[in-house]
This record gives sequence, C-alpha cells and structure tokens, in this order.
Amino acid sequence: MEMNEHKTVEKDELTGDKLLSGHEYDNIRELDNNLPKWWVWLFIITIVWSVVYIFAYDVFKIAPYQQDEYKNEMAAAGVLSPGQPAPVDASTLVALTDQASLDAGKEIWLKQCKVCHLDGGQGLVGPNLTDNFSIHGCAYGDVVNIITNGAPEKGMISWKTQLTGDQIKKVASFVMTLKGTTPPNPKAPQGEPCK
Ligand code: HEC
Repeated sequence: MEMNEHKTVEKDELTGDKLLSGHEYDNIRELDNNLPKWWVWLFIITIVWSVVYIFAYDVFKIAPYQQDEYKNEMAAAGVLSPGQPAPVDASTLVALTDQASLDAGKEIWLKQCKVCHLDGGQGLVGPNLTDNFSIHGCAYGDVVNIITNGAPEKGMISWKTQLTGDQIKKVASFVMTLKGTTPPNPKAPQGEPCK
C-alpha cells in the first residue's frame, strides 16, 4: 500500500506493526504487513512458469498435452482407444474393383471429398491424389487408414464416424482409380514418391 500521502505512519499499539490507513470497519483495523519473501518468490516463479508453459505447449508445441501423451503411449503399447478401429495392414488389403463399388465410391467422393481434393482428385486444400506421391502411404490399405483415422491437425478429418467401414473401402477404392489420371491444374506433389 502507498503510505506516502500520510505524514505519520500509524502503528499498532500492541505489536508496533504498521497499520493500513483508511481500512477501518467496525473498529477492526488491518496491519500493513509485507508478504513473506518465500511467498513472493513462489508467486513470481508461478508467473514465469506459466509463460514457459504457454510457449512450450501452445506456441511452439514442443511438449505434448497430457491426453496426447496418453494416446502416444497407448499407441506405442499397441492399445487402441475405445471406438478406434484397428489400423489395417496396408499390405494385405485389396481394393474393390467391381463397377458398383467404384460408382458408390465416386458418389461419396463427390459428396464428401471433392471440396478439398476437387472432382478429379487434382488437389486443393487436400493433396493431389492422382500423382505418384503420398504423405500417408500409397497402398490401398494406407488410403483406407488415412480416410478412417484422418490427420485432423493437418485438415483431413477422420471419417470413421460419418462413413461406414464399407463406404470407406468403396471411396478408398475409387481414390485408387484416380492415380495416374491427368485432371487439369494438378496441385504440386506432396510427400514421398510411391515405390
Ligand atoms: C476439409 C478438407 C478435406 C476433406 C473434406 C477431405 N480431405 Fe482428404 N485430405 C485433406 C488434407 C488437408 C490432407 C493432407 C493431410 C496431411 O497433410 O497430412 C488430406 C489427405 C488425404 C489423403 C492422403 C493423401 C496423401 O498424400 O497421403 C487421402 C487418401 C484423402 N485425403 C482422401 C480423402 C477422402 C476419400 C475424402 C472424403 C471421404 C477426403 N479426403 C476429404 C483435406 C480434406
């Protein structure tokens, strides 16, 4: 408290401690004690720590959130969270090739996927799916995995709640047919070349 405007510092008669002026209610007065040093330091450290924390977690994102840490450890241990479909073995799945499935896949594509990948899969927000490059893997199983689980932090949502497993297989099979086609204005390749 600023005491400068008061010429005389009032003291408590009993203890000799400084009194806070202007703080008298029902004859109860308050002492103007300083906070203990250890307490002030603890307070300053919490402020400094909060700044470190904000930068580490929310600005530079060098430390994972607790829930991500949990997920990472579960994934490392091979434990799936509830509702999470098991990742399919990319090498063993075989794309559907019958016309009815591909037509159904195309219908889903035009409804759900076109906004980001464009009609012909030439890419817009999402990558070009017609070239021989891929971020998440080139095999049919990889495509099923990325559609199922998404890469939400990169803008590709997980479709497992909106599409059934059957629909995902159909649209993934359709995506496989886009490879090697040459729609206009293709987006530059992203990711690794496919083997
Ligand atoms: C809101 C925009 C958006 C929609 C809608 C969308 N995607 Fe994506 N998609 C993306 C983005 C962005 C990526 C790139 C993710 C990354 O960089 O990791 C991506 C990646 C992919 C990939 C992997 C490409 C690669 O190089 O590995 C496939 C396959 C894919 N999307 C298929 C689909 C299908 C099928 C649908 C519809 C069911 C769909 N996407 C809907 C934005 C979208």
